[in-house]
Amino acid sequence: MIPVTKPFLPPIEEYQELVQGIFDRNWLTNDGPLVRDLESKLSGRLNIPTLFVSNGTIAIQLAIKALGLKGKIITTPFSYVATSSSIVWEGCEPVYVDIEESGYNIDPEKIEAAITPEVTGIIATHCFGTPCDVEAIQIIADRHGLKVIYDAAHAFGTTVNGRSIFEFGDVSTCSMHATKLFHTVEGGSVSCRDEAVFRRISLMRNLGHNGPNQFDGAGINGKNSEIHAAMGIANWKYIEDILAQRRKIAQGYEEVLKNSNFLLPPIKNSEWNCSYYPVIFESEQQCLEVKGRLEQAKVFPRRYFYPSLNRINNWGTDNCPNSDSIASRILCLPVFHSLTSTEINTIGALLNKVLLP
Ligand SMILES: Cc1ncc(COP(=O)(O)O)c(C=O)c1O
Repeated sequence: MIPVTKPFLPPIEEYQELVQGIFDRNWLTNDGPLVRDLESKLSGRLNIPTLFVSNGTIAIQLAIKALGLKGKIITTPFSYVATSSSIVWEGCEPVYVDIEESGYNIDPEKIEAAITPEVTGIIATHCFGTPCDVEAIQIIADRHGLKVIYDAAHAFGTTVNGRSIFEFGDVSTCSMHATKLFHTVEGGSVSCRDEAVFRRISLMRNLGHNGPNQFDGAGINGKNSEIHAAMGIANWKYIEDILAQRRKIAQGYEEVLKNSNFLLPPIKNSEWNCSYYPVIFESEQQCLEVKGRLEQAKVFPRRYFYPSLNRINNWGTDNCPNSDSIASRILCLPVFHSLTSTEINTIGALLNKVLLP
């Protein structure tokens, strides 16, 4: 059986050593030393002050709340449901702007037409770790006084012209869920350069505590624990190895699928973290046929992301033809650290069998 993903696990003794320290200190949560250590590592690597929080969903909610976004928020229809549900959960309304015709991210050329007086911000996803057009989005945001949040749940390790992708926009969030390239079992982060916003997020994630008996506004429990931070720290020294292996996997798929006529991701861009391997088929029927054949062979790709978010919960309309189309024809192939080249060749051969004449 080959699943779409498998969590990376460090050698158990390395994790145990960190957990032993937690037992010795008897300090499990509430801004412990491992959480602080991980935050310092994250802030250094992402090149922006970063807080460790309980997951990538609460990270987006904290960002919306701390930036004071209200009313309508322009967002992408092509993302995991958490991007939109966080908007709705925070009492705002998503306004969907379609994705680019060739790519997975919001189309900056379509953003301005969707801006109305009720729109207060933009939440865009760097889908599959491929960067949004951050420069174009910033120009539009500045012109209209809008805040920008990037859902960078997939983007750990991606850079833009050599800069960490987390440096762009007002706030960037990440998910460190077990399935992500860098993970802490459950976890997420919020990155932000503005000191006042950063301080608000840090208060808000700890129920507004500003000392044992003092409070500074309403908050939520968005903290994460020493046990989760320990997994992040144990995984930390393997990040370069994980990124290199992802790249090798993407190159393996590209090689085995090179004669196919479906759309493959842009791995030639060395700044992409290769966190997923999406393949776009000619039609939904072809996509489902391939999925069925792979499943018969015990290979389990996923329809990331289907359905397009403008189609669920009456949140949107039919104004996103590119997203509708991609969502109906996409499969993400298995990608995880221990995936072997033999397995990649087997998966490629199964795809080619259905699709090549
Ligand atoms: C694009 C995107 N945003 C947000 C999230 C939410 O992250 P979490 O599962 O850590 O809450 C995910 C999780 O898969 C995601 O893919």
